[in-house]
Amino acid sequence: MKITFIGGGNMGSALISGLIRKGTDCGDIAVVEPDLDRRKLIGQEYGVRVYDEATIESMDCEAVLLAVKPQQLHQVASKLACLLENQLVVSIAAGIRATDLSEWLGGYKKVVRVMPNTPAQVSKGVSALYAMPGVEAKEMAETILSSVGSTIWLDEEEKMDAFTALCGSGPAYVFYFLEAMLEAAGIMGFDVVESRRMVLDTFSGSIALASESQDDAATLRRKVTSKGGTTERALLEMEKNGVKENIVKAILAAEERSREMGIELGNRSC
Ligand SMILES: NC(=O)c1ccc[n+]([C@@H]2O[C@H](COP(=O)([O-])OP(=O)(O)OC[C@H]3O[C@@H](n4cnc5c(N)ncnc54)[C@H](OP(=O)(O)O)[C@@H]3O)[C@@H](O)[C@H]2O)c1
Repeated sequence: MKITFIGGGNMGSALISGLIRKGTDCGDIAVVEPDLDRRKLIGQEYGVRVYDEATIESMDCEAVLLAVKPQQLHQVASKLACLLENQLVVSIAAGIRATDLSEWLGGYKKVVRVMPNTPAQVSKGVSALYAMPGVEAKEMAETILSSVGSTIWLDEEEKMDAFTALCGSGPAYVFYFLEAMLEAAGIMGFDVVESRRMVLDTFSGSIALASESQDDAATLRRKVTSKGGTTERALLEMEKNGVKENIVKAILAAEERSREMGIELGNRSC
């Protein structure tokens, strides 16, 4: 499959690197990137074809992956509209609805909207995909995104807001919890290097246990919590302060914000 990336920034590079690692020939990848230094870097690092702007030659592909900032997408789409023939257009721009993008592409309907998350940069991402009704060749989008982690197809675009709140923003919630544990480690006298190793190993070990175990999260938590022990004291403190309840509220607030941003971005970019 020949793929053209529009935008070779953080996420574009992560996807290119993932595809090449998974066996895509670098000759099948083209990147349109206006920034000269970035363009040179990508060309040298991955051996892919690079262009400073989208042309008929650069768009000779089966799939076009839009990896520019959401605010840049309207302008980019307007320019691409006349270069599209039958390519699948895959957008990873956060918050831009497929219907808005389709309109900016002059009514082009072969559009898949994707929301990846930042662990994609280390091939451990999870991406949600939504295809506009009638789109065939969805597997091309699947191939691209599965090169940097797992994928989940959504049957309704509205669910993208919930996915964004849960998994798009999710890494930040995990980092927030990490920050709290690291702060406690510092207060209890561990230095930065040892704290980082201990806390990260506790996280990755717990995730590995949760992934491999038949028990659900609540059961695993109970198994660490002995009556009258240290874990029980910590969890009682968290419950008293409504930590779990407030995390749920926070995620629902993020979903609401994602919905608002979809409207704002759709209107503002017109
Ligand atoms: N980073 C993530 O983890 C993540 C997660 C989910 C979704 N996303 C989405 O992925 C998209 C890209 O994010 P990013 O973090 O990779 O951004 P980024 O690092 O800023 O990359 C965007 C690149 O596109 C280039 N560009 C701008 N205008 C262009 C044009 N007309 N044609 C071709 N390239 C153009 C930019 O160049 P200039 O810098 O010169 O403008 C920049 O190098 C965003 O829409 C974001 O919402 C990212």
